[in-house]
Amino acid sequence: MTDAVVLVTGGASGIGRAIVDAVLAAGGRAIVWDIDAAGLSACAAAHGARVHPARVDVAEAGAVTTAMAELPPDWAPTHLVNNAGIIGRRMRLAEMDPADIDRVLAVNLKSALYATRAFLDRRRPHPGAAIVNLSSIAARTGGMPGNALYATTKGAIASLTVAAAKELAPDVRVNALAPGVIDTPIQDGVFGGDRGRIAEIARAIPLQRPGAAAEVAEAALWLLSPASSYVTGTVLDVAGGR
Ligand SMILES: NC(=O)c1ccc[n+]([C@@H]2O[C@H](COP(=O)([O-])OP(=O)(O)OC[C@H]3O[C@@H](n4cnc5c(N)ncnc54)[C@H](O)[C@@H]3O)[C@@H](O)[C@H]2O)c1
Repeated sequence: MTDAVVLVTGGASGIGRAIVDAVLAAGGRAIVWDIDAAGLSACAAAHGARVHPARVDVAEAGAVTTAMAELPPDWAPTHLVNNAGIIGRRMRLAEMDPADIDRVLAVNLKSALYATRAFLDRRRPHPGAAIVNLSSIAARTGGMPGNALYATTKGAIASLTVAAAKELAPDVRVNALAPGVIDTPIQDGVFGGDRGRIAEIARAIPLQRPGAAAEVAEAALWLLSPASSYVTGTVLDVAGGR
C-alpha cells in the first residue's frame, strides 16, 4: 500500500479511524473526512503529515465536491472507503418523519454516491484501485427493532456495491463489509450505552463477543490491497458468525 492514498469518510472515530490506522501501518497515506473536529485533530496528532484531515459533511453533495477539488495534487486519492454512517433516531415506522428519513438516507447512502462520484472524477489511476463500502448484517436481518431506516440504507449500500463493481470493472474493484456488533461509539445509539444489553447480545454471537474496530479494519485492508485482486462485488461479513 506504499503508494496508496486512501480516502476514508467518517475516519475520525470507530471503524473508520481503525481503517486509517491500518492503512498507515501498511505504508499508505489517508485522507480523512469527518464532521468530528476533535476526532480529526486526534487523528492528525497521531499521524502527522501522512494524513490529510478535513471537516466535511459527506451528506452534502456540494461539500464533497468542494473538498475533493481542494485536495492538493499529490493527495489525489487512489482508493476510497465509504464508511461514514449514523444509526439515526430509534423509532417505529409509523413515527418516521421526513427529516429523519432524509438525514439517515443522506449520511448513510447519498454520501457514498457523492463520494464515489467525486473519487471517480479526481482519482489518480492505480493498478490496485479499490472501493470498500460499509454495509451491515442489518441489511439482511432488518437490524434492531426501531432501526428500519438504518437497515434500509445498509441494504442499499450492498446493492450499490454489486452494481458499482460491474460498472467499474476492470479498473476499480468494489466490495463491501457487513460488520455485526462492533464495539464503537455508534453502538450507544443502538443500546444506549447499556453494557449489560451488549453482553446479552454477545452470548448470541457464535464467537461470544462483540468485534473490535481493528478487526473490521483488517478486513478492509485486505479488500483494499492486492491480496484480494480477484475479489469484486462481494459483501463480506465480519460478524463473529452471527
Ligand atoms: N459498530 C458497529 O457495530 C457497526 C455494525 C455494522 C456497520 N457499521 C458501519 O460502520 C461504519 C462506521 O461506524 P462506527 O461503528 O465506526 O461508528 P462511529 O460513530 O464510531 O463512526 C462514524 C463516524 O462517521 C462520522 N460521521 C457521521 N456523520 C457524518 C457526516 N455527515 N459526514 C462526515 N462524517 C460523518 C462520525 O463523526 C464518526 O466519526 C458506519 O457506516 C456503520 O453503519 C458499524
